[in-house]
Amino acid sequence: MRIEPAGFFRGTLTLPGDKSISHRAALIGAMAEGETRVRNFSSAADCASTLSCLRGLGVAIRQEGPELVIAGGLEAWRPPDGVLDAGNSGSTLRMLAGALAGRPFRTTLTGDASLSRRPLERVAAPLRAMGASVETTDGKAPLAVTGGPLRGLRHELPVASAQVKTAVLLAGLQADGRTTVREPLPSRDHTERMLPCFGVRVERAGLEASVEGRARLRGTSVSVPGDASSAAFLVVAALVLPDSQIRLPGVLLSPTRAAFLEVLQAMGGRIEVQLEASEPEPVGSIVASSSALRGTRVDPALVPWLIDEVPALAVAAAFASGELEITGASELRWKESDRIAALASGLRALGAGVRELPDGLVVAGGARLRGARVFSHDDHRIAMALAIAALAAEGQSEIERGECVAVSFPEFYSLLDRATGRG
Ligand code: S3P
Repeated sequence: MRIEPAGFFRGTLTLPGDKSISHRAALIGAMAEGETRVRNFSSAADCASTLSCLRGLGVAIRQEGPELVIAGGLEAWRPPDGVLDAGNSGSTLRMLAGALAGRPFRTTLTGDASLSRRPLERVAAPLRAMGASVETTDGKAPLAVTGGPLRGLRHELPVASAQVKTAVLLAGLQADGRTTVREPLPSRDHTERMLPCFGVRVERAGLEASVEGRARLRGTSVSVPGDASSAAFLVVAALVLPDSQIRLPGVLLSPTRAAFLEVLQAMGGRIEVQLEASEPEPVGSIVASSSALRGTRVDPALVPWLIDEVPALAVAAAFASGELEITGASELRWKESDRIAALASGLRALGAGVRELPDGLVVAGGARLRGARVFSHDDHRIAMALAIAALAAEGQSEIERGECVAVSFPEFYSLLDRATGRG
């Protein structure tokens, strides 16, 4: 992907449906009895992976006008013909493993090269403790789940993870007795917010979430707000480019996803947020304008709430004065790429000062960024971060294997063209 520097970033941009919410709507909808209708389902390749795995299990899913219609019911899930491929999607593989833990057949799940280097024992261990047989390949994919009768479990997650929490809760819904998940720090809570829409009670107390087993989920309608993590890249583009202002209506604004806005505001970002709805998830519009940014230190306790936005924050910092310091983020080394290393090498190639820490990074602002040839590491968020940095750099850049943005945001480059007056 070739990126030319841009003079401004402007307009009202509509974001596709949130990826995290879409995965859950499809998966929980497939578990629930009756029909689930999903509006504004994500266009991300990752969410298409969830749908194709569910279809492989015999779940009927069709598009009807603007709605995705899922004919759900766990009893109707069938052993798949072959291996199910989650592609690049850790959410698909981990959360589906939880649902499959209660199904009385064997399913093998795999993924691409990036997914196959990511840790799976953290999800396998609690599912085994509940009674499922789960085989990993040296702790990684391929993963085989043979489900069966499950016992409720009280599980303490060693690291905050919404995917693992969701997997254990989805298994817990099929178990005998109560299942409780406790996290060291709160991760995103979309599952806890969505289950009650399907008629299931979730008890929440501090760092714990509990469900009762043998639950009856009933199909419902879900309207998916605009993707918060995709919004982060566009917000940063508007902040760092001159003469810019963007408006993003209908974006997911739950506290567990919108923390990047607080950090950018603390950095001096001119951002206004207007809440439009609050149940089951806060949704609203974001207006962001060109700003003089300064570095800050991000509270490590906030990191799970902005883990996917660190690449965008690092780019903002490259155009700020002072330093941005992020620590407590060692999980970034286990995302679609080692994001700490990938960000450091990509931003350095563009001329930014970046220091890698074992669990984070320090980005020193103030340097003039120059166009360069940089590598996406086949990681959608690295590609998007470097593309935004390249828009505000001097001279042309090339993002090698930049097409991987389709994993979460296929419309990304065409929206960039539109907002920079080229589309
Ligand atoms: C996600 C949770 C996060 C995040 C991922 C999506 C989810 O991972 O990085 O992109 O939808 O639950 P964790 O499981 O590490 O929290």
